[in-house]
Amino acid sequence: MTEPTKSGPITNATTATTATIATTVTATGPTPAPLLPVPFPQDRACPYHPPTGYAPLREARPLSRVTLFDGRPVWLVSGYAVARELLADPRLSADRGHEGFPSPTERFARARRRRVALLGVDDPRHNAQRRMLIPSFSVKRIAALRPRVQETVDRLLDAMEAQGPPAELVGAFALPVPSMVICALLGVPYADHDFFEERSRRLLRGPTAEDTEAAQDELDDYFYALIDRKRREPGDGLLDELIHRQLAEGALDRGELVGLATILLVAGHETTANMISLGTFTLLQHPERLAELTAGFAADQSLTPAVVEELLRYLSIAEGLLRLVKEDIEIAGSTLRAGDGVVFSTSLINRDDAAYEAPDALDFHRGSRHHLAFGFGVHQCLGQNLARMELETALRSLFERLPGLRLAVPAEEIPFKPGDTIQGMLELPVTW
Ligand code: HEM
Repeated sequence: MTEPTKSGPITNATTATTATIATTVTATGPTPAPLLPVPFPQDRACPYHPPTGYAPLREARPLSRVTLFDGRPVWLVSGYAVARELLADPRLSADRGHEGFPSPTERFARARRRRVALLGVDDPRHNAQRRMLIPSFSVKRIAALRPRVQETVDRLLDAMEAQGPPAELVGAFALPVPSMVICALLGVPYADHDFFEERSRRLLRGPTAEDTEAAQDELDDYFYALIDRKRREPGDGLLDELIHRQLAEGALDRGELVGLATILLVAGHETTANMISLGTFTLLQHPERLAELTAGFAADQSLTPAVVEELLRYLSIAEGLLRLVKEDIEIAGSTLRAGDGVVFSTSLINRDDAAYEAPDALDFHRGSRHHLAFGFGVHQCLGQNLARMELETALRSLFERLPGLRLAVPAEEIPFKPGDTIQGMLELPVTW
């Protein structure tokens, strides 16, 4: 197939091609991983494959070095076993407040000065924040939401059918499904979705650092006002629970609550929206796999969850998890020194041929459940049960209701997101 084009250049996604390997040897430690002149992050050439410029990193598995936008060399983890070991290692910090925490973009470097709840906090505070939220994301609580999610999906497909074909699937379906669901879960009015979707987009993608900072300020103001309103007029969402229990009891302060609300709202809709749009695109580009999925709707009830799991592995939309080394760590023949930055390339880790046979093939029967698309260790995705349930419901209903679904324009004309943000489609014109 002719692969679609990427959406546009990003500052540091340049021409990583034939890397020459310059190995630096220190007098004391074991042989270090090769230092490769490969910039990170880079744009994907095809929205569902790792960037072609990462080929040297794949070769150098499990550990190598890349260069960030500011010229800083950091460790790049591309091997599955090493990634699991390091992501579970308390000598790595996720605290973005540390001087020297690595930044993949200038935008991130500027935003880093602000506290990020959960994802940007280490234990014991991280653990305290996470414990407040875990019950709301348990398998049981999420399963209870399934009928409501199905209703949302059905309503959106009704509207799409009534108006189409054709349709732009990101705006008509992929984004509103998780947006409506996370609003209901948190107790955020969906009527405000244009506001927060736009701010989330700027928070994650800028394009400038000023955009990101302004979006963050506006989201902060929005949540401070919402919290005040909810104090006067309580509702029944997770934010209401946090306001009337943890905030009232002093287990949280307002700033921390705003931080939690922001990460839950942003992570709760952007990621799943990207998985729905890119998952749909990928299935449409693999007609045999799609036929297998649709045949499975009647014949094999367990196939849809397996498809979701394999798509999560294959697409690895949350690329480039970041950490800072707090104490020296010896691993895979290298010494990671205190103060070094570490980047985990989920797209390479999830295609490690030591962990998955023929990793570049989309195969629903491989048992891909142990992929690292949701991360690993204490920061492993809090919303994974919700994401899985939404994806199963959305993808199944979409292809059941619209069996003739296909791209409305050639694949190579469809724009997708640059490599410095969560991966997904910018637009997805479809017909049926
Ligand atoms: C398919 C969709 C999703 C993907 C691929 C995804 C991916 C990830 C990954 C890779 C991490 C770990 C980051 C790291 O270790 O640096 C993470 C953390 C997190 N995710 Fe998700 N996520 C998804 C959906 C969701 C949803 C629906 C929510 C809902 C609230 C959510 C909330 C969070 C939170 C709060 C964290 C931080 C957890 C912590 O630090 O303890 N995510 N996610």
